[in-house]
Amino acid sequence: KRQLILDVDTGTDDAIAIMAALLSPEFEVLGICTVSGNLPLANTTENTLRVVSLLAPQVPVIRGCAGPIVRDLDPRRKYCDNEEVLEDEDGNRIAFHVEEFDGLPPARIAPAPTNAVCWMVETLRAATKKVDLVLVGPLTNFALALRADPSIVEHVGQIVIMGGGCEERNSTSAAEFNFFMDPEAAQIVLGCGAKIVLVTLDATHHAVLCGEDVQRMRSWRTTVGDFVAQITSERIKAYTLFQPLFKPDSASMHDALCILYLLDGSVITKTRLLPVSVDFYGGASDGRSVMDTRSVPARAPNCTVCLGTDDEKFSRMLLDILGRAKG
Ligand code: BDR
Ligand code: CA
Repeated sequence: KRQLILDVDTGTDDAIAIMAALLSPEFEVLGICTVSGNLPLANTTENTLRVVSLLAPQVPVIRGCAGPIVRDLDPRRKYCDNEEVLEDEDGNRIAFHVEEFDGLPPARIAPAPTNAVCWMVETLRAATKKVDLVLVGPLTNFALALRADPSIVEHVGQIVIMGGGCEERNSTSAAEFNFFMDPEAAQIVLGCGAKIVLVTLDATHHAVLCGEDVQRMRSWRTTVGDFVAQITSERIKAYTLFQPLFKPDSASMHDALCILYLLDGSVITKTRLLPVSVDFYGGASDGRSVMDTRSVPARAPNCTVCLGTDDEKFSRMLLDILGRAKG
């Protein structure tokens, strides 16, 4: 079995990624660290605990950092440069990053009595074989773990990160959300020397579920099926309102693509080995992933950059995995 550590800011697409990992017998999930991002830390932790309670209550959930390394010192900074609040036809507020988990009962388990930065350092130091990391929120926790003990990298197999974009962006006209939320952390992690697979927006914008998939998930008549159907249909509603040019009746499930990639790399249809860094200078391109696509780049490549997805394979694999849940 492959040993995994997940780092999440749950978040509906994070929830689906967690479920996909816990429902895949190929993985042994050592622990799931939480970070602030899609929501404040208390909410991302409670959401994570709810999902883990349902599928694998023995897996530790470890609370991580409540904010980025330095960026929340600037009160003017917002996660998005075109933030707006929309309402549905009944006047209910629909905000893209408000992710309530009403469809799941409150958590039956508590977070581990430590913090994610210490836990990552201790767990990696004690590892008897290489551990893969799946980092799908702002990269604060692992960046600080690397600062505490850079040698932990020797115990890492590969790091699969949802972050950045070559042609695509979402938080600002330059940056993807996870990198924008903590650009310094992203730069530290990309420079750590481990094998990194960067699952960018160019790939995840083709990792979608659609209205038909929602119907199928409902037809399973399981708690997992009802929950994923509910959060997927919420995401589709938000995409329809906020991103009218996106594939109709569909929503991206960014973070789940990282798990599917580890199960079957052929779900990714296009990769490039490139030097990637993150702009953290605070200007218009703050948080942007800078990819050196020149034929003779200035530095050696540090990332396998994923730029395309087999969308049909993605939804088929994901539904097969989620459909395994008995409850
Ligand atoms: C990333 O931002 C978050 O909102 C999602 O969970 C995903 O990790 C996409 O840019
Ligand atoms: Ca996420």
